[in-house]
Amino acid sequence: MTNPTIADLVISGATVVTDAASFDAAVAIKDGRILAIGEERALPSARETFDATGLHLLPGAIDVHVHFREPGYTHKEDWQTGTAAAAMGGVTTVFEMPNVDPPTATPEGLALKQEAAKKAHVDYGLYGLLAEDNIDQLEALIEGGVAGFKCFMGNTFGNLPSPSTGAMLEGFEIVAQHGLRIALHAETASIMARREKRLQAAGRTDPLAHLASRPAVVAVEAVSRAAILAEWTGARIHILHISSADELRPLREAKLRGVDITGETCPHYLLFDEQAYADHRSVIRVNPPVRERHHQDGLWQGLYDGTIDMIATDHAPHTPAEKLRNDIWTVDCGFPGVETQMPLMLSQVHAGRLSLSDYVRLTSTKPAKAFGLYPAKGALLPGSDADITLVDLNREDTIAAAHFQSRSKITPFEGMKVTGMPIHTLVRGRFIMKDRQIVGESKGWGRSVHRIQRMPPPQPKNSDQTLAAVTRVSGRSR
Ligand code: NCD
Ligand code: ZN
Repeated sequence: MTNPTIADLVISGATVVTDAASFDAAVAIKDGRILAIGEERALPSARETFDATGLHLLPGAIDVHVHFREPGYTHKEDWQTGTAAAAMGGVTTVFEMPNVDPPTATPEGLALKQEAAKKAHVDYGLYGLLAEDNIDQLEALIEGGVAGFKCFMGNTFGNLPSPSTGAMLEGFEIVAQHGLRIALHAETASIMARREKRLQAAGRTDPLAHLASRPAVVAVEAVSRAAILAEWTGARIHILHISSADELRPLREAKLRGVDITGETCPHYLLFDEQAYADHRSVIRVNPPVRERHHQDGLWQGLYDGTIDMIATDHAPHTPAEKLRNDIWTVDCGFPGVETQMPLMLSQVHAGRLSLSDYVRLTSTKPAKAFGLYPAKGALLPGSDADITLVDLNREDTIAAAHFQSRSKITPFEGMKVTGMPIHTLVRGRFIMKDRQIVGESKGWGRSVHRIQRMPPPQPKNSDQTLAAVTRVSGRSR
């Protein structure tokens, strides 16, 4: 007779929420994975049980857009404070950006990032940089374990020069052969540079000048151009921080043409409009900018009709001093978000603008699918990683940066009332946040997801030209 299976942990009493349904069930966990879901009396016995009566049990959020600033800018954030903020925010996996110092553009830069990430409380993927001067490093970065690439088509924090279209095409050709997704900061640098110069020459230093320097056409042009290169090469791409209703058209059209393109928007574009420049002054400065009201309405529509695949945060921490300057052109762009996404968006669920299953799809299932992690992550299935957030949908709170885990104690969401809070967070079966306290011993528990990533190379549309060109350029025979 074989020994009966004994679970490590059974969580009982909660309402389980997937991207399709909500139902009352208990969840058994063994070796960091979900063993079974069902009526408690039907589950195997467990070494430990946890009573989650009154809470909802969600697959942990996967935030594919965070900046943790280490190495190089650790006065803003580091991997310990950034991933503690994620844990407090119910986020169990993050994808972290390469605009650090030195940038994650070479295997050496990647090694520094990997060293910093050893402090992580949550699981993580690392983006490598795709830039003008490092096309010859992309394959080494893939071998080194990046989970995707980031390409800055427009200038933003870190001032990494935007690559030419030629470099982008070559980069896309190479990455396409490996299947990894390329995330794009889709704003066209040359349009913004000229606008900004004109506004500065006219003496504008007010917060709204930032919006004026980056009209939606910068995003429309960049999304369209990136989609053409993706279509030509077969590369998978992801449009970061969608801020305008206008860029949804090229995104939708590219999807219809069969381009493997996904898109995210962020809570600040869904919850703020031009009034924010009067209310929050320099604090609201972010790239791309928060826009006029009709854009906000269009983004919600894009979430409902599936044009926008997911919600990420663009967690972009800076110090209060860096955010509170009188001349808008000298204010650092962005603000923290990984810790506030869940309370803010659960409040939208509370207000009836999203269903709970929509929320799970947008913050967990879709990001996992886009980056090749599903169903190991983004799902509550037997065999999935036990990445779980237990939320209290009725818990009220007020956003207060002073209480953030993030080192960045400033947010335009300051003072906002929320209803719905993550109470406990588990990564691979282990509590990393319990009763709204970080579990200190979970520092270092986070692992890189690249080993479980499944992203087989897609079939390139122009395979003859593409492969021949790449072979010639790299001198490799295939
Ligand atoms: C980001 C940052 O601070 O790193 N800033 C921002 O305004 N969004 C960079 C970025 O994602 O563009
Ligand atoms: Zn960006």
